[in-house]
Amino acid sequence: MTKTIYILNGPNLNLLGKREPEIYGDITLDDVAADCTHLAAELGLEIQLMQSNHEGQIVDWVHQARDQAAGIIINPAAYTHTSVAILDALNTFEGPVLEVHISNVHKRESFRHHSYVSLRADGVIAGFGVEGYQLALRRMASLLAD
Ligand code: DQA
Repeated sequence: MTKTIYILNGPNLNLLGKREPEIYGDITLDDVAADCTHLAAELGLEIQLMQSNHEGQIVDWVHQARDQAAGIIINPAAYTHTSVAILDALNTFEGPVLEVHISNVHKRESFRHHSYVSLRADGVIAGFGVEGYQLALRRMASLLAD
């Protein structure tokens, strides 16, 4: 059976492409979903890309992933820097977790330098633009093949 990867996105990423394009670029989350769907098929995987502006919804999706996904790629957006709840949820998930940030958070304000999610993530990609999602997907494929 084809393995499913959840690609979870946090607050304000619904506005990707319109929001601060000088930082996040002009590609929309729908474009990211389409590109990742194609790449996933090449890699023999399926993806479900979701976005929510609500912390509890992201926690619920992580719980759902426990039964339904082989791996999680997550850009928790601002919740990266604040959410113990999302970290705790990820700690209940047994498969690989990869953290993605479109911008290089380490080059930005100091409050973006700390990530709760990194305490669980098996790898972190930051500053590669939206290409980071595809890089994470390739890494996920090799982690699941091992
Ligand atoms: C982000 C970086 C976060 O600091 C910010 O709050 C976001 C997006 C990124 O993808 O670069 O919303 O996760």
